[in-house]
Amino acid sequence: MLIGDDVPERNCRDWSTQAPQHPLAVVRPADVQGVAAAMRACRAAGLPVVPQGGLTGLCGGARPEPGWVALSLERLVGIEEIDVASATMTVRAGTPLETVQRAADEAGFFFALDLGARGSCAIGGNLSTNAGGNRVIRYGMARELVLGLEVVLPDGTIVSSLNKMLKNNAGYDLKQLFIGSEGTLGIITRIVLRLHPKPGCTMAAVCALPDYASVVSLLGAARRGLGPLLSAFEVMWPDYWQVVTERVGVRSPLQGSHGFYVLIEAQGTDESIDGPRFEAWMEKLLEQGALSDAAVARSLADTQSFWALRDACAEFFQVLGAHISYDVGLSVKDMHDYAARCKAALARRIPGCESVYYGHIGDGNLHLVSWVPRLGIEQQPKDAMDEVIYGLVREFGGTVSAEHGIGTVKKRWLGHARSPEEIALMKTIKAALDPLGLLNPGKVL
Ligand code: FAD
Ligand code: LAC
Ligand code: ZN
Repeated sequence: MLIGDDVPERNCRDWSTQAPQHPLAVVRPADVQGVAAAMRACRAAGLPVVPQGGLTGLCGGARPEPGWVALSLERLVGIEEIDVASATMTVRAGTPLETVQRAADEAGFFFALDLGARGSCAIGGNLSTNAGGNRVIRYGMARELVLGLEVVLPDGTIVSSLNKMLKNNAGYDLKQLFIGSEGTLGIITRIVLRLHPKPGCTMAAVCALPDYASVVSLLGAARRGLGPLLSAFEVMWPDYWQVVTERVGVRSPLQGSHGFYVLIEAQGTDESIDGPRFEAWMEKLLEQGALSDAAVARSLADTQSFWALRDACAEFFQVLGAHISYDVGLSVKDMHDYAARCKAALARRIPGCESVYYGHIGDGNLHLVSWVPRLGIEQQPKDAMDEVIYGLVREFGGTVSAEHGIGTVKKRWLGHARSPEEIALMKTIKAALDPLGLLNPGKVL
C-alpha cells in the first residue's frame, strides 16, 4: 500500500483531460484474495474505491477523488492458460493488452481486440470499458471476445464464472453486467478470452476518395468484395490527415490532397490466393473510378506505416496541445453531415475553435477532437463544446459514447443517449450490487 507522498503521480488521473487528484492510498494486490481483502477493509472503513487498470481511459472513470483508495490491478498480471482445444486464454486482469496479443500470436492464435493504447491499457480495463478499437467490424467489441470472468463484488465476495463454452444459457449471463460498467459494479480479476485463428496473411490499402458518398459506396463494395475478410475500415477527414501528415509528420503514401482517406484492412488465410485477390479488387475499383487514388501495402513495414497514420492521434497532445476528445456514435449515412455541421457550429459558437474528424466509420463510430489553440486544459471551453457536439448527436439520433464510456466527463449527457427508464434500471442494478455506494461512486450514473 502506498500513502501520502508515496502515491505515484500516474495513479492520480487517467488520459482524460481532468486535473490529477491525490487518493488517500493506492493498493496493489497481487491475487484475487488480496483484492477481496482490500474491498472488505475499505467497506469496513467506509472508504470509496476506484479500480485502475492501465489508466488510458478517456472519461475520468479511473480517476480517484481525495479520500478514496485507488485499487490498481498492475500486479495482478500474467497469462494462466491457453487452452488450444477450446481456443481460449485465461488471463489476469492487469495484463497489458499487447502482452495478451503477443501471447496469442506465439501460441498460433489471434486475439482480435486492438487499439492505439495497446502498450499501456490492461485487459481488465478494456473489458470494464467494453473497448472497441480497430477490428470491431469483423470481430465485435471487447464483449464479444469474453467467455468467462472472475469478479470481486463491492462486499468482497469472489464470483468465479470462468466459463470456456461458447454456448451457456444456464440462467442470467452475469459477466455482461461487469463488461462496460466502468468499474462501478465489481472488480474484474480474471478473464477467459476467446481466441481466433491466426490470419495467414494481412492485406492493407490506403484509399483516397473525392466525397463522403464515395466512402459509403466503398464500404458497401468492401463488405461485398472482401466478405468476411474485411477487418478494418477506418476513415480520416482531410483536417485529420493534415494534422497527422504535416504536424505529427507521418509519411503519406499518396500524392496530393483529397476529400477523404480510408484505411482498409483484410485478413485472409492464404497469401498466394488472398493477396492477389485483394490487389485485383483494388485494381478494379481504380479502373471503375470508385477511388481517386490508392496505395496497397507490399510488406509488413508498409502495413505498419499505414496504421501509423491512424495511430498518430496518440501524439495529439504533443502537436495540438490541450484538446478534448469525443467518440460519438451515428448512423453511417449521417457521418459527414454531422461532421460538417459540427465543425461549423463549433467555430461559430467558440471563437478560434478548431476540430478534426476521423474514426471507425464501418462501425458507426466517429471520433473528433476539438480545441482552442494555446489554451490550457482547464481553460478549454469544454461545456460549450459538449453542448454543440452532443446537441447535434441528439438531433441525429446518435449516442454520446460509442466506445470510451461515460466516466465523469459525459455524465451530464447520459440522458441524450439513454431513456429515463434505462437510467432508472441502471441505478437499481447499481444499488443492488453496491448498496453502500463505495465502488467508484459518481461514475457513469
Ligand atoms: P483504465 O483507464 O485504468 O480504467 C477504465 C475504467 O475501467 C475505469 O472506470 C476503471 O475504474 C475501470 N477499471 C479498470 N480496470 C478494472 C477492473 N479490473 N475491474 C473493474 N473496473 C476496472 N478505447 C476504445 O474503445 N477504442 C479505441 O480505439 C481506443 N483508442 C485509444 C487510443 C489512445 C491513444 C488512448 C490513450 C486511449 C484509447 N482508448 C480507446 C481508450 C482506452 O484506452 C480504453 O478505454 C481502454 O479500454 C481503457 O483500459 P485501461 O486499462 O487503461 O483502463
Ligand atoms: C481511437 C481512439 C481515440 O480510435 O478511440 O483512436
Ligand atoms: Zn476509437
